[in-house]
Amino acid sequence: MTMNTPVDIVLVDDHAENLLALEAVLSSPDYRLISLKSGEDVLRYLMREDMQNVAVILLDVQMPGMNGFETAKLIKKRERTKDIPIIFITAINKSVDHVLQGYEAGSIDYLFKPFHPDLLKLKVEAFVQMHRFHRDQYDYLESLVRERTQELIIASEERVAWEKEMAKLDRLNLVGEMAAGIAHEIRNPMTTIRGFLQMAKKNKTMADEYIDIMLEELNRANGIITEFLSLAKNKATNFQTMSLNDIIASMEPLIQAEAMLSGMHLHVNYGSIAELAVDDKEIRQLLLNMAINGLEAMQPGGAFTISTYMEGAAVVLKLEDQGSGIKAEYLEKLGTPFFTTKEKGTGLGLAVCYSIAARHQADIELQSSDQGTVFAIKFKGA
Ligand SMILES: Nc1ncnc2c1ncn2[C@@H]1O[C@H](COP(=O)(O)OP(=O)(O)OP(=O)(O)O)[C@@H](O)[C@H]1O
Ligand SMILES: [Mg+2]
Repeated sequence: MTMNTPVDIVLVDDHAENLLALEAVLSSPDYRLISLKSGEDVLRYLMREDMQNVAVILLDVQMPGMNGFETAKLIKKRERTKDIPIIFITAINKSVDHVLQGYEAGSIDYLFKPFHPDLLKLKVEAFVQMHRFHRDQYDYLESLVRERTQELIIASEERVAWEKEMAKLDRLNLVGEMAAGIAHEIRNPMTTIRGFLQMAKKNKTMADEYIDIMLEELNRANGIITEFLSLAKNKATNFQTMSLNDIIASMEPLIQAEAMLSGMHLHVNYGSIAELAVDDKEIRQLLLNMAINGLEAMQPGGAFTISTYMEGAAVVLKLEDQGSGIKAEYLEKLGTPFFTTKEKGTGLGLAVCYSIAARHQADIELQSSDQGTVFAIKFKGA
Protein backbone atom coordinates (compact mmCIF):
# COMPACT_ATOMS: atom_id res chain seq x y z
CA MET A 1 0.00 0.00 0.00
CA THR A 2 1.29 3.45 -0.83
CA MET A 3 0.56 6.91 0.44
CA ASN A 4 -1.73 7.39 -2.55
CA THR A 5 -4.05 4.48 -2.06
CA PRO A 6 -7.46 5.98 -1.17
CA VAL A 7 -8.63 5.14 2.33
CA ASP A 8 -12.17 3.99 3.17
CA ILE A 9 -14.54 6.24 5.09
CA VAL A 10 -17.81 4.68 6.20
CA LEU A 11 -20.82 7.01 6.40
CA VAL A 12 -23.91 5.81 8.26
CA ASP A 13 -27.22 7.63 8.34
CA ASP A 14 -30.79 6.44 7.87
CA HIS A 15 -31.66 9.60 5.90
CA ALA A 16 -30.53 9.50 2.30
CA GLU A 17 -30.29 13.31 2.13
CA ASN A 18 -27.92 13.39 5.12
CA LEU A 19 -25.72 10.84 3.39
CA LEU A 20 -25.72 12.96 0.25
CA ALA A 21 -24.68 16.00 2.26
CA LEU A 22 -21.79 14.10 3.88
CA GLU A 23 -20.70 12.75 0.49
CA ALA A 24 -20.74 16.22 -1.00
CA VAL A 25 -18.51 17.64 1.71
CA LEU A 26 -16.08 14.77 1.83
CA SER A 27 -15.81 13.96 -1.85
CA SER A 28 -12.08 13.60 -2.62
CA PRO A 29 -9.86 11.36 -4.74
CA ASP A 30 -8.09 10.42 -1.49
CA TYR A 31 -11.19 8.88 0.04
CA ARG A 32 -13.42 6.02 -0.93
CA LEU A 33 -16.81 6.81 0.63
CA ILE A 34 -19.00 3.90 1.68
CA SER A 35 -22.54 5.05 2.47
CA LEU A 36 -24.75 2.77 4.57
CA LYS A 37 -28.30 3.16 5.87
CA SER A 38 -28.31 1.45 9.28
CA GLY A 39 -26.33 0.06 12.18
CA GLU A 40 -27.07 -3.44 10.92
CA ASP A 41 -25.63 -2.54 7.51
CA VAL A 42 -22.39 -1.33 9.11
CA LEU A 43 -21.95 -4.52 11.08
CA ARG A 44 -22.63 -6.58 7.99
CA TYR A 45 -20.17 -4.49 6.01
CA LEU A 46 -17.47 -4.75 8.65
CA MET A 47 -18.03 -8.48 8.79
CA ARG A 48 -16.92 -9.21 5.25
CA GLU A 49 -14.75 -6.33 4.11
CA ASP A 50 -11.05 -5.78 4.64
CA MET A 51 -10.92 -3.60 7.75
CA GLN A 52 -7.33 -2.50 7.28
CA ASN A 53 -8.35 0.28 4.96
CA VAL A 54 -11.17 1.90 6.99
CA ALA A 55 -9.85 5.17 8.41
CA VAL A 56 -12.99 6.32 10.24
CA ILE A 57 -16.70 5.65 10.61
CA LEU A 58 -19.15 8.58 10.70
CA LEU A 59 -22.09 7.29 12.65
CA ASP A 60 -25.48 8.94 13.03
CA VAL A 61 -26.65 8.46 16.60
CA GLN A 62 -30.39 8.50 16.05
CA MET A 63 -31.41 5.70 13.76
CA PRO A 64 -34.38 3.38 13.80
CA GLY A 65 -33.46 -0.15 14.84
CA MET A 66 -30.00 -0.23 16.27
CA ASN A 67 -28.96 3.27 17.25
CA GLY A 68 -25.46 4.71 16.81
CA PHE A 69 -24.27 3.96 20.34
CA GLU A 70 -25.42 0.35 20.20
CA THR A 71 -23.77 -0.09 16.83
CA ALA A 72 -20.53 1.42 18.18
CA LYS A 73 -20.56 -0.93 21.17
CA LEU A 74 -20.73 -3.94 18.87
CA ILE A 75 -17.99 -2.56 16.62
CA LYS A 76 -15.73 -2.03 19.64
CA LYS A 77 -16.41 -5.55 20.88
CA ARG A 78 -14.85 -7.21 17.90
CA GLU A 79 -11.10 -7.62 17.97
CA ARG A 80 -10.74 -6.88 14.27
CA THR A 81 -12.76 -3.65 14.32
CA LYS A 82 -12.26 -2.31 17.82
CA ASP A 83 -9.57 0.18 16.83
CA ILE A 84 -11.50 1.88 14.04
CA PRO A 85 -12.24 5.45 15.14
CA ILE A 86 -15.85 6.54 15.18
CA ILE A 87 -17.27 10.04 14.88
CA PHE A 88 -20.81 10.29 16.21
CA ILE A 89 -23.01 12.71 14.40
CA THR A 90 -25.87 13.86 16.53
CA ALA A 91 -28.41 16.62 16.71
CA ILE A 92 -29.86 15.58 20.01
CA ASN A 93 -29.09 17.27 23.25
CA LYS A 94 -25.47 18.00 23.93
CA SER A 95 -25.81 17.01 27.55
CA VAL A 96 -22.77 15.54 29.27
CA ASP A 97 -24.71 12.34 29.80
CA HIS A 98 -24.89 11.68 26.14
CA VAL A 99 -21.28 12.54 25.49
CA LEU A 100 -20.20 10.19 28.28
CA GLN A 101 -22.33 7.40 26.87
CA GLY A 102 -20.52 7.89 23.61
CA TYR A 103 -17.11 7.65 25.21
CA GLU A 104 -18.04 4.51 27.08
CA ALA A 105 -18.95 2.91 23.83
CA GLY A 106 -15.43 3.73 22.62
CA SER A 107 -16.20 6.80 20.60
CA ILE A 108 -13.41 9.09 19.73
CA ASP A 109 -15.19 12.20 18.57
CA TYR A 110 -18.45 14.04 18.18
CA LEU A 111 -19.97 16.28 15.59
CA PHE A 112 -23.16 18.16 16.15
CA LYS A 113 -25.76 18.78 13.53
CA PRO A 114 -25.95 21.01 11.70
CA PHE A 115 -22.26 20.46 11.14
CA HIS A 116 -19.88 22.96 9.73
CA PRO A 117 -18.48 21.56 6.46
CA ASP A 118 -14.88 22.72 7.05
CA LEU A 119 -14.88 21.38 10.60
CA LEU A 120 -16.13 18.04 9.31
CA LYS A 121 -13.45 17.97 6.64
CA LEU A 122 -10.71 18.82 9.13
CA LYS A 123 -11.80 16.19 11.62
CA VAL A 124 -12.06 13.50 9.02
CA GLU A 125 -8.71 14.47 7.53
CA ALA A 126 -7.11 14.25 10.99
CA PHE A 127 -8.30 10.65 11.32
CA VAL A 128 -7.20 9.85 7.81
CA GLN A 129 -3.70 11.15 8.56
CA MET A 130 -3.57 9.09 11.72
CA HIS A 131 -4.73 6.04 9.84
CA ARG A 132 -2.14 6.55 7.10
CA PHE A 133 0.56 6.97 9.69
CA HIS A 134 -0.41 3.74 11.45
CA ARG A 135 -0.82 1.91 8.19
CA ASP A 136 2.64 2.93 7.00
CA GLN A 137 4.11 2.01 10.38
CA TYR A 138 2.32 -1.30 10.17
CA ASP A 139 3.47 -1.94 6.60
CA TYR A 140 7.00 -1.02 7.55
CA LEU A 141 6.96 -3.26 10.63
CA GLU A 142 5.39 -6.05 8.64
CA SER A 143 8.07 -5.82 5.95
CA LEU A 144 10.72 -5.79 8.68
CA VAL A 145 9.22 -8.90 10.26
CA ARG A 146 9.01 -10.59 6.87
CA GLU A 147 12.64 -9.79 6.10
CA ARG A 148 13.85 -10.89 9.51
CA THR A 149 11.87 -14.15 9.29
CA GLN A 150 13.40 -14.88 5.91
CA GLU A 151 16.86 -14.15 7.28
CA LEU A 152 16.24 -16.44 10.24
CA ILE A 153 15.03 -19.25 8.01
CA ILE A 154 18.11 -18.97 5.83
CA ALA A 155 20.41 -18.67 8.84
CA SER A 156 18.99 -21.76 10.50
CA GLU A 157 19.21 -23.79 7.30
CA GLU A 158 22.80 -22.69 6.89
CA ARG A 159 23.54 -23.52 10.49
CA VAL A 160 22.20 -27.05 10.21
CA ALA A 161 24.30 -27.66 7.08
CA TRP A 162 27.30 -26.06 8.73
CA GLU A 163 26.94 -28.12 11.91
CA LYS A 164 26.73 -31.33 9.91
CA GLU A 165 29.86 -30.31 8.05
CA MET A 166 31.64 -29.49 11.31
CA ALA A 167 30.61 -32.78 12.90
CA LYS A 168 32.04 -34.62 9.91
CA LEU A 169 35.28 -32.65 10.08
CA ASP A 170 35.50 -33.23 13.83
CA ARG A 171 35.17 -36.95 13.32
CA LEU A 172 37.84 -36.79 10.64
CA ASN A 173 40.19 -34.74 12.78
CA LEU A 174 39.76 -37.06 15.71
CA VAL A 175 40.58 -40.21 13.75
CA GLY A 176 43.35 -38.30 12.04
CA GLU A 177 45.00 -37.57 15.35
CA MET A 178 44.37 -41.06 16.65
CA ALA A 179 45.77 -42.48 13.47
CA ALA A 180 49.01 -40.59 13.74
CA GLY A 181 49.35 -41.68 17.36
CA ILE A 182 48.74 -45.40 17.09
CA ALA A 183 50.00 -46.16 13.60
CA HIS A 184 53.59 -45.87 14.68
CA GLU A 185 52.99 -48.17 17.65
CA ILE A 186 51.43 -50.83 15.41
CA ARG A 187 53.96 -50.61 12.66
CA ASN A 188 56.90 -51.34 14.92
CA PRO A 189 55.76 -54.79 16.03
CA MET A 190 54.72 -55.56 12.45
CA THR A 191 58.22 -54.81 11.24
CA THR A 192 59.58 -57.18 13.84
CA ILE A 193 57.17 -59.95 12.81
CA ARG A 194 58.00 -59.45 9.14
CA GLY A 195 61.68 -59.74 9.96
CA PHE A 196 61.23 -63.04 11.84
CA LEU A 197 58.98 -64.41 9.06
CA GLN A 198 61.56 -63.62 6.45
CA MET A 199 64.18 -65.36 8.61
CA ALA A 200 61.94 -68.41 9.00
CA LYS A 201 61.42 -68.55 5.23
CA LYS A 202 65.13 -68.41 4.60
CA ASN A 203 65.92 -71.11 7.20
CA LYS A 204 63.05 -73.31 5.89
CA THR A 205 61.68 -73.76 9.43
CA MET A 206 58.10 -73.17 8.24
CA ALA A 207 56.13 -74.05 5.11
CA ASP A 208 56.45 -71.28 2.50
CA GLU A 209 52.72 -71.06 1.83
CA TYR A 210 51.95 -70.21 5.45
CA ILE A 211 54.64 -67.65 5.48
CA ASP A 212 53.32 -66.10 2.25
CA ILE A 213 49.82 -65.85 3.70
CA MET A 214 51.16 -64.16 6.79
CA LEU A 215 53.28 -61.73 4.77
CA GLU A 216 50.29 -60.89 2.61
CA GLU A 217 48.15 -60.22 5.61
CA LEU A 218 50.85 -58.03 7.07
CA ASN A 219 50.97 -56.05 3.84
CA ARG A 220 47.22 -55.59 3.93
CA ALA A 221 47.35 -54.36 7.52
CA ASN A 222 50.14 -52.03 6.57
CA GLY A 223 48.10 -50.72 3.65
CA ILE A 224 45.17 -49.96 5.88
CA ILE A 225 47.40 -48.06 8.26
CA THR A 226 48.89 -46.04 5.42
CA GLU A 227 45.42 -45.11 4.25
CA PHE A 228 44.26 -44.35 7.78
CA LEU A 229 47.26 -42.11 8.26
CA SER A 230 46.33 -40.09 5.22
CA LEU A 231 43.28 -38.89 7.18
CA ALA A 232 45.49 -36.77 9.42
CA LYS A 233 44.41 -33.16 9.21
CA ASN A 234 47.90 -31.74 9.21
CA LYS A 235 49.21 -34.30 6.77
CA ALA A 236 51.89 -32.76 4.61
CA THR A 237 50.64 -31.95 1.14
CA ASN A 238 52.59 -31.08 -1.93
CA PHE A 239 50.58 -28.55 -3.91
CA GLN A 240 51.47 -27.82 -7.50
CA THR A 241 49.58 -25.88 -10.11
CA MET A 242 48.28 -28.19 -12.81
CA SER A 243 45.18 -29.29 -14.67
CA LEU A 244 42.96 -32.02 -13.23
CA ASN A 245 42.69 -33.29 -16.82
CA ASP A 246 46.35 -34.36 -16.79
CA ILE A 247 45.86 -36.28 -13.57
CA ILE A 248 42.76 -37.99 -14.95
CA ALA A 249 44.58 -38.86 -18.19
CA SER A 250 47.35 -40.56 -16.22
CA MET A 251 44.76 -42.65 -14.35
CA GLU A 252 42.51 -43.44 -17.29
CA PRO A 253 44.24 -46.66 -18.40
CA LEU A 254 44.19 -48.09 -14.90
CA ILE A 255 40.50 -47.35 -14.30
CA GLN A 256 39.70 -48.53 -17.85
CA ALA A 257 41.39 -51.86 -17.09
CA GLU A 258 39.49 -52.21 -13.81
CA ALA A 259 36.21 -51.48 -15.57
CA MET A 260 36.85 -53.92 -18.41
CA LEU A 261 37.65 -56.72 -15.98
CA SER A 262 34.06 -56.55 -14.75
CA GLY A 263 32.45 -55.86 -18.14
CA MET A 264 31.86 -52.17 -17.52
CA HIS A 265 32.62 -49.02 -19.47
CA LEU A 266 34.58 -45.90 -18.68
CA HIS A 267 33.81 -42.55 -20.32
CA VAL A 268 35.88 -39.44 -19.78
CA ASN A 269 34.75 -35.94 -20.79
CA TYR A 270 37.72 -33.63 -20.54
CA GLY A 271 36.32 -30.12 -20.19
CA SER A 272 38.25 -26.97 -20.73
CA ILE A 273 39.15 -26.08 -17.15
CA ALA A 274 41.44 -23.74 -15.25
CA GLU A 275 44.58 -25.06 -13.60
CA LEU A 276 44.48 -25.59 -9.85
CA ALA A 277 46.95 -25.90 -6.99
CA VAL A 278 46.58 -29.59 -6.09
CA ASP A 279 48.48 -32.49 -4.62
CA ASP A 280 48.40 -34.84 -7.59
CA LYS A 281 49.02 -37.96 -5.50
CA GLU A 282 46.02 -37.14 -3.39
CA ILE A 283 43.79 -36.41 -6.37
CA ARG A 284 44.85 -39.75 -7.88
CA GLN A 285 43.91 -41.46 -4.64
CA LEU A 286 40.53 -39.71 -4.59
CA LEU A 287 39.82 -40.63 -8.20
CA LEU A 288 40.75 -44.25 -7.64
CA ASN A 289 38.72 -44.63 -4.42
CA MET A 290 35.64 -43.12 -6.00
CA ALA A 291 36.04 -45.03 -9.26
CA ILE A 292 36.36 -48.31 -7.40
CA ASN A 293 33.26 -47.49 -5.33
CA GLY A 294 31.38 -46.68 -8.53
CA LEU A 295 32.46 -49.87 -10.27
CA GLU A 296 31.66 -51.93 -7.19
CA ALA A 297 28.15 -50.50 -7.13
CA MET A 298 27.38 -51.42 -10.78
CA GLN A 299 26.33 -54.52 -12.68
CA PRO A 300 28.19 -55.63 -15.82
CA GLY A 301 27.29 -53.31 -18.69
CA GLY A 302 27.19 -50.24 -16.49
CA ALA A 303 29.11 -47.09 -17.34
CA PHE A 304 31.29 -44.92 -15.13
CA THR A 305 31.72 -41.36 -16.36
CA ILE A 306 34.36 -38.85 -15.32
CA SER A 307 33.83 -35.23 -16.39
CA THR A 308 35.53 -31.95 -15.74
CA TYR A 309 34.02 -28.52 -16.30
CA MET A 310 33.86 -25.00 -14.97
CA GLU A 311 31.00 -23.74 -12.82
CA GLY A 312 31.60 -20.03 -12.44
CA ALA A 313 35.12 -19.75 -11.06
CA ALA A 314 35.01 -23.27 -9.63
CA VAL A 315 36.52 -26.34 -11.30
CA VAL A 316 34.23 -29.34 -10.99
CA LEU A 317 35.28 -32.97 -11.11
CA LYS A 318 32.17 -35.09 -11.61
CA LEU A 319 32.11 -38.84 -11.09
CA GLU A 320 28.98 -40.58 -12.15
CA ASP A 321 28.04 -44.25 -11.91
CA GLN A 322 24.98 -46.25 -12.89
CA GLY A 323 25.04 -48.32 -9.74
CA SER A 324 22.43 -49.19 -7.17
CA GLY A 325 22.75 -45.86 -5.32
CA ILE A 326 23.24 -45.07 -1.65
CA LYS A 327 20.34 -45.55 0.74
CA ALA A 328 19.11 -42.33 2.38
CA GLU A 329 19.82 -43.68 5.86
CA TYR A 330 23.50 -44.19 4.94
CA LEU A 331 24.04 -40.69 3.55
CA GLU A 332 24.70 -39.22 7.00
CA LYS A 333 27.38 -41.78 7.74
CA LEU A 334 29.17 -41.42 4.44
CA GLY A 335 32.77 -40.40 4.95
CA THR A 336 32.89 -41.67 8.53
CA PRO A 337 35.96 -43.91 8.83
CA PHE A 338 35.16 -47.63 8.88
CA PHE A 339 31.59 -47.16 7.70
CA THR A 340 31.05 -49.84 5.09
CA THR A 341 28.21 -51.93 3.72
CA LYS A 342 30.57 -54.30 1.97
CA GLU A 343 31.59 -57.64 3.32
CA LYS A 344 35.23 -57.06 2.54
CA GLY A 345 35.21 -53.28 2.69
CA THR A 346 37.34 -51.32 5.10
CA GLY A 347 35.20 -48.22 5.02
CA LEU A 348 38.14 -45.89 4.59
CA GLY A 349 37.82 -45.02 0.89
CA LEU A 350 35.38 -42.14 1.21
CA ALA A 351 36.81 -40.89 4.50
CA VAL A 352 40.10 -40.48 2.68
CA CYS A 353 38.32 -38.71 -0.21
CA TYR A 354 36.58 -36.27 2.15
CA SER A 355 39.80 -35.46 3.96
CA ILE A 356 41.59 -34.92 0.62
CA ALA A 357 38.79 -32.63 -0.50
CA ALA A 358 38.98 -30.72 2.81
CA ARG A 359 42.72 -30.20 2.39
CA HIS A 360 42.02 -28.84 -1.10
CA GLN A 361 39.21 -26.66 0.19
CA ALA A 362 36.88 -28.45 -2.20
CA ASP A 363 33.24 -29.27 -1.49
CA ILE A 364 31.81 -32.66 -2.31
CA GLU A 365 28.20 -32.66 -3.48
CA LEU A 366 26.36 -35.90 -3.79
CA GLN A 367 23.24 -37.07 -5.54
CA SER A 368 22.07 -40.63 -5.41
CA SER A 369 19.09 -42.61 -6.60
CA ASP A 370 18.51 -46.22 -7.55
CA GLN A 371 19.68 -45.21 -11.04
CA GLY A 372 23.13 -44.31 -9.81
CA THR A 373 25.27 -41.91 -7.86
CA VAL A 374 26.95 -38.64 -8.79
CA PHE A 375 29.81 -37.14 -6.78
CA ALA A 376 30.65 -33.57 -7.78
CA ILE A 377 33.90 -32.32 -6.25
CA LYS A 378 33.97 -28.53 -6.53
CA PHE A 379 37.36 -26.83 -6.27
CA LYS A 380 37.02 -23.15 -5.51
CA GLY A 381 38.71 -21.18 -8.24
CA ALA A 382 41.65 -18.87 -7.60
N1 LIG B 1 29.29 -44.92 -5.80
C1 LIG B 1 28.66 -45.56 -4.81
N2 LIG B 1 27.51 -46.21 -5.03
C2 LIG B 1 26.87 -46.85 -4.01
N3 LIG B 1 27.32 -46.90 -2.75
C3 LIG B 1 28.47 -46.25 -2.46
C4 LIG B 1 29.21 -45.55 -3.46
N4 LIG B 1 30.28 -44.99 -2.85
C5 LIG B 1 30.23 -45.35 -1.56
N5 LIG B 1 29.16 -46.11 -1.31
C6 LIG B 1 28.74 -46.63 0.00
O1 LIG B 1 29.53 -46.03 1.01
C7 LIG B 1 30.21 -47.00 1.78
C8 LIG B 1 31.56 -46.44 2.19
O2 LIG B 1 32.40 -46.31 1.07
P1 LIG B 1 33.95 -46.35 1.28
O3 LIG B 1 34.62 -46.23 -0.02
O4 LIG B 1 34.31 -45.37 2.34
O5 LIG B 1 34.19 -47.76 1.90
P2 LIG B 1 34.08 -49.15 1.19
O6 LIG B 1 34.03 -49.01 -0.30
O7 LIG B 1 32.99 -49.91 1.81
O8 LIG B 1 35.47 -49.81 1.60
P3 LIG B 1 36.95 -49.38 1.12
O9 LIG B 1 37.59 -48.80 2.31
O10 LIG B 1 37.53 -50.62 0.64
O11 LIG B 1 36.77 -48.35 0.05
C9 LIG B 1 30.28 -48.21 0.90
O12 LIG B 1 30.36 -49.38 1.67
C10 LIG B 1 28.95 -48.12 0.13
O13 LIG B 1 27.90 -48.61 0.89
MG1 LIG C 1 35.42 -47.85 -1.32
